[in-house]
This record gives sequence, structure tokens and C-alpha cells, in this order.
Amino acid sequence: MNKDVIIALDFPGKAETLDFLGQFTGRKPFVKIGMELYYAEGPEIVRAIKTRGHRIFLDLKLHDIPNTVKRAMAVLSRLDVDMVNVHAAGASAMMRGALEGLTRPDGTRPLLIAVTQLTSTDQAALQKELLIDVPMEETVLRYAKNAAESGLDGVVCSPLEAQGVKARCGASFLTVTPGIRFADGDAGDQKRVMTPERAGQGGSDYIVVGRPITQAADPAAAYARCLREFLGA
Ligand code: C5P
Repeated sequence: MNKDVIIALDFPGKAETLDFLGQFTGRKPFVKIGMELYYAEGPEIVRAIKTRGHRIFLDLKLHDIPNTVKRAMAVLSRLDVDMVNVHAAGASAMMRGALEGLTRPDGTRPLLIAVTQLTSTDQAALQKELLIDVPMEETVLRYAKNAAESGLDGVVCSPLEAQGVKARCGASFLTVTPGIRFADGDAGDQKRVMTPERAGQGGSDYIVVGRPITQAADPAAAYARCLREFLGA
């Protein structure tokens, strides 16, 4: 299993995105394409970035009936991305459908991970709106367990939850963790943050880093620092 830094390409369109990626002249970063960029530019942006040699996490968080998710995943598998995701709240039948749809005729497939609870959901919303009457951490671990039993490769979770997920689901079950900030950086709207170094020591396999790299004066230098701190190299 390879630990890596994934840069969140939270840009509105193709021009800004390709300008940004043009600054990385050495190692080609693993990147995340989210809903904003994908809905603006469509599958073409995936192909354009893939052609430039990047690994891609397509972060579209699918959540629908199993048959629909299965068919949508079959389409995404043809885009040659490296990682995709679903909401674990869609339950096990949907996750198994996703896995089936994603598997190409030759047996290969991108990594499939599940979102447990969005970090924007707090305990009050869980109880009062979603009527889930157990502590947040317990739902995260249970959703992770459901994902593991459905055959998925891992989950998106807070770096603070990564060790608990590994303890429940096994060391090889992947943890992909956003909410990363440099020790001397600005947290912005992220409430619970961790440095790349501590995330690396604490059980994160992949860290997802947006603004600390995209908004840096020198993004390539910020990326190199992030890799150095995370991998302890
Ligand atoms: O700029 P920043 O480093 O906060 O970006 C984090 C990225 O990870 C964003 O693309 C955000 O949407 C995503 N993300 C997150 N928290 C989650 C799930 C995804 O910050 N729970």
C-alpha cells in the first residue's frame, strides 16, 4: 500500500486547473476532482488530466438505488480513474452494486471508498434530523465496517478517526483523510485539523489537501513540503 498526498483541485474550470497543474514540473501529483469541476467540465477534464500523467480520485460521492449506482459506476470505470467513492449511507446492497459496476471486463477496477459521515454533520444534526441516536464515532466505525464487509477498499474519514477505523476494519483498509493543515497554516473553515506529519504517524494512507497547496504562494514547494512531512522522508 502506498501512502500519498492527494491535491484537491477545487477550481471552477479547466483553464484554472490546467494552469495550476502546469506548475508541477517534477513528480505528477495524485489529484482529486470534485463535483464543482466535474459538473462544470464533464468527463473531458478527467481525460485531459489523465493524459498529463496524474492519478485521479473522482470524488462524486454516489448515493442512489443499487442498480443506478452500479450502472453509473460502469461508466466511471471506463474513464480510467484511480479512485472513486460512494456514501456508505446508501447501505451494503448499494456498495456491492457499486463494486460490481466498477469492475472492468478484465477484472481490474479503480479503488472504491465510502464516505462515512460528512464532517459537516454534527452530533445535533445526527440526532435531531437524521434520528441516529448513537455517538458520531460509533456511526463512523459502523459505516466503515459495512463498507469493509461489502468489499470496499476504504473510507474517507477525519484523520482523528483513522486509527479507530484501522482497529475496527484491519490495517489494510484504506483511510483517506481531508482536514489537513500545516502547523503554521490557517485552518479556514475546517474545524478539526491535523498536520501532514501527525496524519502520517496516525494511520492515514492518503491525505487530501486543498487550500494549503492551491492557495500557497508557491504550490509546488507547498506540495513538496506536504509530501516530506507526511512521508517523513
Ligand atoms: O482546502 P481543504 O484542504 O480544506 O480541502 C479539503 C478537500 O477535501 C475539499 O475538496 C473538501 O471538499 C474535501 N472534503 C473535506 N471534508 C470531508 C470530505 C471531503 O474537506 N469530510
